[in-house]
Amino acid sequence: MRILSGIQPSGELHIGNYFGAVQQHVANQDRGEAIYFLADYHSMTSLRDAGERRRYTLDLALDYLACGLDPARAVLYRQSDLPELCELAWILTTVTPMGLLERAHSYKDKVAAGIPIDHGLFAYPVLMAADILIYNADLVPVGQDQKQHLEMTRDIAQRFNHTYGQEVFRLPEPQILEAVAVVPGIDGRKMSKSYDNTIRMFAPQKQVKKAVMGIVTDSTPVEDPKDTDTALFQLWSLFASPDDREAFFARARAGGLGYGDVKKDLLERLLAFFEPLRERREQLAKRPDDVEDTLRDGAARARTLGQPVLEAAREAAGLGPA
Ligand code: TRP
Repeated sequence: MRILSGIQPSGELHIGNYFGAVQQHVANQDRGEAIYFLADYHSMTSLRDAGERRRYTLDLALDYLACGLDPARAVLYRQSDLPELCELAWILTTVTPMGLLERAHSYKDKVAAGIPIDHGLFAYPVLMAADILIYNADLVPVGQDQKQHLEMTRDIAQRFNHTYGQEVFRLPEPQILEAVAVVPGIDGRKMSKSYDNTIRMFAPQKQVKKAVMGIVTDSTPVEDPKDTDTALFQLWSLFASPDDREAFFARARAGGLGYGDVKKDLLERLLAFFEPLRERREQLAKRPDDVEDTLRDGAARARTLGQPVLEAAREAAGLGPA
């Protein structure tokens, strides 16, 4: 089984990213042939600073490697190291109806918000289709927000196959990543960089502490029973076994447990959980050349996997010499 997903470089990972996606991406490397890429081409539709893009892309590679992505078991590469994707995107673009792209939520939302649109954003789903179809991927683990893009990929693949009368592309199945657990932000809304309510995984410990101490709570006095269906207790639960959780929640509901103590305990657990990852990341960050080697290697392997499909598409479409 071939599993593929792309991750946009958009700044430092937070614990919502970790429990929502990274952990599952890493686990997938034991389920099949996993291919992951750093979607720097896609990031061009929203990020316009070249230096930031380079830095975010390398940071994301470090993050994934630190979180356990193993280049011996999974392919990790930088999207722009495979310019062939742009060629396939062009080929696919010619069988993609305007109406299909006009229905994309990602595009419609921006139009509705009055944000000026460029063609790159409009064509974003076609490049994404190229990312997926070039490997004949079976499974694409993505968040719920990407489900429509996956449906479009299937649609585009079918149109190409139909137009040229050959089954060049396999239709991929989405694997919608259900949040393994609810990861609220420190203000109680969903944890998201755009809400500025995150706890960053690899931030300096002082900043992690500040974020944890800043988690919203109500003003229930220490001695009173606590409602455990809150951001603080949900975050705490991410770092506890089910048994621990039951005992701790019982204590909270009995009264006498203060929010300050819950936060201190959460902070300790969180730092301990991410400590080995943080150490690995620090080691990796000292050897950027090795990370580049890993990415170059990944791109070479990805190219070997993708080339036959691209060739088949060119052949089917009558491009190049017979
Ligand atoms: N659009 C995806 C996101 O923002 C990233 C992405 C790009 C992707 N190409 C992909 C995901 C191909 C899965 C497969 O999350």
